[in-house]
Amino acid sequence: MTSDIRNIVVLTGAGISAESGLATFRGPDGLWEGHRVEDVCTPEALARDPVLVHRFYDARRAALESVTPNAAHEALAHLDAAWPGELLIVTQNVDDLHERAGARRLLHMHGELLSALCAACGMATRWAGAMGHGPECPGCGARALRPDIVFFGEMPYQMDRIDEALTRADLFVSIGTSGAVYPAAGFVQTARHYGAGTLELNLEPSAGSFQFSESRMGKASRLVPQWVSEILGARNH
Ligand code: APR
Repeated sequence: MTSDIRNIVVLTGAGISAESGLATFRGPDGLWEGHRVEDVCTPEALARDPVLVHRFYDARRAALESVTPNAAHEALAHLDAAWPGELLIVTQNVDDLHERAGARRLLHMHGELLSALCAACGMATRWAGAMGHGPECPGCGARALRPDIVFFGEMPYQMDRIDEALTRADLFVSIGTSGAVYPAAGFVQTARHYGAGTLELNLEPSAGSFQFSESRMGKASRLVPQWVSEILGARNH
């Protein structure tokens, strides 16, 4: 790591939460092994079978109560607190483990389990309980709450802010993602185009590994703390 790095963008995926006990999507026992995306993660699925979709997300929301951040989340939160330059943690994850570890410069591009979106008035509300029983929207009263999750075919959140951060990045780090889903899978290309260094920290080679100037294979709970101490150490020289 060179010490002339000032602006960093970090992308995280399900792999960073795996050691906290949350299932990933495409590995063994992955969420997409037990469910078809078309049945639980599309607007059509919600219209066709809202009970099934709510059951899927109500279960994932409830699971948050029994997991805690791991060393990788903690290390990124430490970086967030200590890094004097620009930092943006873009997570594809919908869990709240980054927040619970203390990350602040964070955005959820695929939404959040702990948020409810009203399909009638568009208001998003913090929501910790079940949603399948059709509660009223706190804003407009309509029984039209859906999981505030970006379904396949929907536009991820805050893409302008992400693109702007990528054009300014000196370093782009991808952690725990298979590189299977766009636009997140294309961030490394954008970062490289604007001259950023690119580092991948993942359990195994991903679909995009060839695009990174450096790829380190291993568990996030080991690789992320190691990288954070490197990058903070480089600044003190
Ligand atoms: N440490 C580091 N990486 C890990 C670990 C670990 N302990 N465990 C698994 N991984 C890696 C896997 O090797 C895999 O490459 O994490 C990645 C998880 O990939 P996916 O399950 O595809 O999850 P993700 O990349 O986040 O999926 C992207 O797809 O289904 C959509 O919206 C959903 O946000 C999700 C998006």
